[in-house]
Amino acid sequence: MSEHTRGAPRSWLLDKPLTGFALPTGRIGSLQGWLMGRLNGDEQSEASTLLAARPGEHVLEVGFGPGVLVERTLAAGARLTGVDPSPQMAAQARRRNAAAVDAGLADLRVGTAEHTGMPDGTLDAVVSVNNVPMWSDLDAGMRELRRVLRPGGRAVVAWHGGSRPRFVARRILLPDDVLDRILASMRTAFGAAELHRGDRLVAWLAHRAPSEPG
Ligand SMILES: C[S@@+](CC[C@H](N)C(=O)[O-])C[C@H]1O[C@@H](n2cnc3c(N)ncnc32)[C@H](O)[C@@H]1O
Repeated sequence: MSEHTRGAPRSWLLDKPLTGFALPTGRIGSLQGWLMGRLNGDEQSEASTLLAARPGEHVLEVGFGPGVLVERTLAAGARLTGVDPSPQMAAQARRRNAAAVDAGLADLRVGTAEHTGMPDGTLDAVVSVNNVPMWSDLDAGMRELRRVLRPGGRAVVAWHGGSRPRFVARRILLPDDVLDRILASMRTAFGAAELHRGDRLVAWLAHRAPSEPG
């Protein structure tokens, strides 16, 4: 294990420390964020459609990277809190969305899917794009997404895939048994969930039941 990866968070799926695009770090991380911002546009559009944020809603984005979906969610009139463990991504996403950050409409912090730091039951929607395999604990992440949603709130978790995945994403598509493992985890946390196979993405969709205790 190198100096760089010692102590880094580990993926539940790969059981190895996160590096590269999985946890953009330092100056190379900033470049990786810039590349994701340039290349992932179609995926962010599809995620934005699935999320369908409405004016006045409060959305949490987990693993926002360079902040392209943040920008689109704000453009839909929602307010957004975001968590990402990479300080470089937080800085880059804040720069991309500087006017909204200054206006108090976007709050982009260091945090993770498993520990968002948000209060119970407050958010209208939560979204995670291209980072669920990087969480260190899949089940804890799913429980956290449900915990922070208001009753009736919705969760959208997405990864590269679908009928027309981007060429560069084809080597990191998830096999069916892993798609099913993520679906099972979401069902355990939410009670019900579905797997959606889109164009550039696969997505796991769930709602917090409209009336249920904590
Ligand atoms: C491949 S990038 C995707 C970024 C962006 N969502 C996109 O689609 O362009 C993965 C992101 O997940 C973040 N990440 C890694 N571990 C995470 C965790 N446990 N919880 C939330 N985000 C995480 C990384 O810092 C990185 O910004």
